[in-house]
Amino acid sequence: MKLNDILNKKEFTKDDIAFLLSLENVDDVESLRAKAEDLLLTLRGNKVYFRGLVEFSNICTSDCYYCGIRKSNTAVERYQLSKEQIVDAALWCAGQGYGSVVLQSGERTDCAFVDSVVEIVREIKRRSVSNALPDGIGITLCVGEQTEETYRRFYDAGAHRYLLRIESTSPEIFSRIHPEKQSLGNRINCLKMLKKIGYKTGTGVMIGIPGQTVQDLAKDILFFKELDTDMIGMGPYIVHRQTPMASYENDVLARYDDIFRMSLKMIAVTRLVLRNVNIAATTALQSMKPDGREQGLTFGANVIMPQLTPTDVRKNYLLYEKKTCLDENAEQCRSCLTGRIGSVGRVVAVNEWGDRPL
Ligand code: 5AD
Repeated sequence: MKLNDILNKKEFTKDDIAFLLSLENVDDVESLRAKAEDLLLTLRGNKVYFRGLVEFSNICTSDCYYCGIRKSNTAVERYQLSKEQIVDAALWCAGQGYGSVVLQSGERTDCAFVDSVVEIVREIKRRSVSNALPDGIGITLCVGEQTEETYRRFYDAGAHRYLLRIESTSPEIFSRIHPEKQSLGNRINCLKMLKKIGYKTGTGVMIGIPGQTVQDLAKDILFFKELDTDMIGMGPYIVHRQTPMASYENDVLARYDDIFRMSLKMIAVTRLVLRNVNIAATTALQSMKPDGREQGLTFGANVIMPQLTPTDVRKNYLLYEKKTCLDENAEQCRSCLTGRIGSVGRVVAVNEWGDRPL
């Protein structure tokens, strides 16, 4: 079958997806990009939604082998923002016209943590209501695997979206990059619980994990589809040297351009297969190439997460090395991103949650 026939499909098989992800020729990749961008503009228009990102604590009880803030990394200085700092950051977002905020942290399940998140979500919700945002700011949580009861408490407090990456749907890869006590099965269960409770649910994978094949990535996209996910956040795997996966550094560096290109193709193909979902152009993309996020937008992404984490602690939230924008404050980040978005012909949405349409 010719490339154009596949690009014009509405339902894709695993082989179609693997075929598109395998495109190498510059003109073919451009056809894929143009089709994905065109579909996005037709279905969702040219708006880009900001989700202000507050990385409110790097304290983590998990030990994922790829992640720089894993519990066993004793070289990291741990921090926890105060409730006031978190609420203030969210209210700053609301004042700027960002429709949404993302509260992300390391994974903790203890009562003190859960209670404080509930309280913070409630307060942000209550204090962000205005004429411009009659239902308050949209709140997304990204605090890992929790119990159904905890997810329910967060939802009842006012969080209406939740991000939990599956990381990889390949059982072999998942178990190779996580300690035994974390399981793919539980991650999938958590995603199902989140959907059942009513969250707009987001997931995603890391791209370029050593040993990951195009077939694995094609299955990941089919998983997103089967889950009927609302949001996708995915990006390149980048080595952090203070982790057990440091030994992959040379292998990953040798594939640098391939991993970057595959990350863009993953955005485009996910756009074609899942059509109207929200897809983020992630910071990890920009960490690989200075214009990585803009390229992500042109391949079909429509969400950007500007940094709101206070500059003094940002250097301690390094999930991977070479993370960019470490010394910019929230205002500098906003104006830089607005310019970058304009440079690819898009506009920033103001005072909108920007959920996937039903
Ligand atoms: N490279 C790229 N992404 C990473 N993440 C964690 N560590 C890395 C890394 N070394 C991603 C994971 C996680 C998200 C919060 O950050 O996908 O879900």
